[in-house]
Amino acid sequence: MIHLEQVRKSYRQGEREVLACAVERLDIARGEQVALVGRSGTGKTTLLHILAGILRPDQGVVEVVGQRLDRLSEAARDRHRGRHIGMVYQTFNLLQPFTALENVLLGALFGRGAGGDAPQRAEALLAKVGLGERMHHRPSELSVGQVQRVAICRALINDPELVLMDEPLGNQDRATGSQVLGDLLQMAADSGKTVVMVTHDPDSATRMQRTVDLAELRPAAAVGGAR
Ligand SMILES: Nc1ncnc2c1ncn2[C@@H]1O[C@H](COP(=O)(O)OP(=O)(O)O)[C@@H](O)[C@H]1O
Ligand SMILES: [Mg+2]
Repeated sequence: MIHLEQVRKSYRQGEREVLACAVERLDIARGEQVALVGRSGTGKTTLLHILAGILRPDQGVVEVVGQRLDRLSEAARDRHRGRHIGMVYQTFNLLQPFTALENVLLGALFGRGAGGDAPQRAEALLAKVGLGERMHHRPSELSVGQVQRVAICRALINDPELVLMDEPLGNQDRATGSQVLGDLLQMAADSGKTVVMVTHDPDSATRMQRTVDLAELRPAAAVGGAR
């Protein structure tokens, strides 16, 4: 499902080149539920965006759901993401003028879930995460935790093979977060989805089948960060 080799991504910050993400090798099998853990600033978001095809690495092999993303154009990566990947962004990226239901449906526009039953599936997903009474509210009328659950529904509307989540539960109270993650992992397991979650929170990481420490993926030469 995921195969990375010798991946590096740097950012230029003024005069400095900052090595944001370096992965010697990472393999994740179909159906696995994996937590990628690391402290803030260790490149978790950068890595997740590389897996989603939002960012292209400076070098290395990035194979995700059968495609070499490092070789595809931005437009082709966007298409691939729409077809195969559901993404829950750290900052959610919901569109403010639209209701919860419309935001979930917008996810279907860019994917394969745009069939005639999309509204029913969107409503069912929202009901499942406890937002049955809130689907006609806009993001500004929802709590942060509720907005996050809408973002999770939007990621699932296309029934993706791979779900990527960036610190998805950081804004939920413990009980709600635990339940939302539990529901998501159960839905994923039932339909054979692969789930990759990045987090700095060891507690939510223990809910996954496998935990990978980003620091341990770094090639020896890159330990210590920027070069
Ligand atoms: N767009 C950017 N421009 C410059 N530096 C960036 C950019 N995005 C992230 N970085 C830097 O890359 C490193 C990793 O960032 P990030 O992937 O967001 O880490 P994490 O998600 O683990 O907190 C940090 O040092 C951060 O400052
Ligand atoms: Mg981050």
